[in-house]
Amino acid sequence: MASSSSTNPMIICLFLLFLSLQTKHASSSPWSLSACYDSIIGFGDSLADTGNLARYLDLPLVPPFYDGKNSSDVGSVNFAVAGASALPDSYFLSKGIAIRQANTSLSDQLGWFKNKFLPKFQCPSERQSFLRSALVLVGEVGGNDYNHALLDGTSKDLVFTFIPDVVGAISSTVKELINLGARTLIVPGNLPIGCSATYLSQFKSSNKSDYNPKTGCLNWLNEFVSNHNKQLRAQLDLIQKEHPHTDIIYADYYNAAMRFYLHPDKYGFSKGALTACCPKCGPYKVDNPEAETCDVPSQYVSWDGLHLTEAAYSILAKGLIKESYTIPQIEQICANHMFNRSYAVPPRIVL
Ligand SMILES: *[C@@H]1O[C@H](CO)[C@@H](O)[C@H](O)[C@H]1NC(C)=O
Ligand SMILES: *[C@@H]1O[C@H](CO)[C@@H](O)[C@H](O)[C@H]1NC(C)=O
Ligand SMILES: *[C@@H]1O[C@H](CO)[C@@H](O)[C@H](O)[C@H]1NC(C)=O
Ligand SMILES: *[C@@H]1O[C@H](CO)[C@@H](O)[C@H](O)[C@H]1NC(C)=O
Repeated sequence: MASSSSTNPMIICLFLLFLSLQTKHASSSPWSLSACYDSIIGFGDSLADTGNLARYLDLPLVPPFYDGKNSSDVGSVNFAVAGASALPDSYFLSKGIAIRQANTSLSDQLGWFKNKFLPKFQCPSERQSFLRSALVLVGEVGGNDYNHALLDGTSKDLVFTFIPDVVGAISSTVKELINLGARTLIVPGNLPIGCSATYLSQFKSSNKSDYNPKTGCLNWLNEFVSNHNKQLRAQLDLIQKEHPHTDIIYADYYNAAMRFYLHPDKYGFSKGALTACCPKCGPYKVDNPEAETCDVPSQYVSWDGLHLTEAAYSILAKGLIKESYTIPQIEQICANHMFNRSYAVPPRIVL
């Protein structure tokens, strides 16, 4: 036999692969995404709340990557940063807008993933099987690209021209993740910002027909978001056709959220859906520096005017995972994976 003084890295890789095959099929729940995926990789802004999502997926909570720790863990990981945009600062500077908050774009997050996270895997096979069995969440992102500009007074006609570029940044990230080995990607659309307290305050109108009579939301802003969502879905459809062996899932945040704007009472939002959790603020008004939070946030949809309360997020997450607000339905995708896993041929080993 060969010398045992130094361990052959190929043997370690094979051993790790063997171990992962042994431990994978542990879940027994008939409908649990943890039976299909081993981890979550998250990209996006503060709305990419993978903690909330992970709870409904029954997967381990997702630690943020960018918290200054130097963990050697290679499990679930969240690259999302509050205030992040799809496009880089340079894009907005070229349009004469210098109002960034986070200075973090999707391509920065992808860079951390490729250059800081993936190298933690010592063998290519390990990295491949990690990516293949992960659920990759690309977003929510894009909201801030519009928020910063619109709330800073940039003309809506100019902001409208950002849409194809924002959608392009998201879809090129999706393609790159697929090329790296991702197999299942969830890409959310944007929320109906015409219903958010911050926008309702800033774009208050005396013209009644600017508002949707059922929800009280601002029509033009929701039409703007619908346009973004439509262009995003068209791009995702194209990518899906080019990559038939991946599952690209659109998460319909817009309609999942619209349920509680239409029927706040039904979801326990007894204070209505349009007022933020902020007692000292007038209707919609959220920028009062003396503001404290309300006593019972779960009675409100809006936390601070732009972000939702925990209660609203969890209804949103539940809607995506347990109800039919993903296209195609994630339950069906998961069932296909489970079927394939239970009849799995040994994966091709690439060392
Ligand atoms: C993180 O850990 C790696 C490997 O242990 C080390 O090479 C690197 O310098 C560390 N980075 C920081 C920022 O501590
Ligand atoms: C924003 O990020 C870019 C690229 O990382 C960097 O060159 C630039 O200095 C940053 N700007 C600010 C204001 O932090
Ligand atoms: C009110 O808004 C509607 C649609 O948003 C528009 O067609 C109409 O011209 C506006 N009326 C006034 C008086 O501005
Ligand atoms: C399951 O396996 C079939 C046949 O090999 C393949 O066509 C299909 O894409 C696989 N589905 C998933 C979700 O991996």
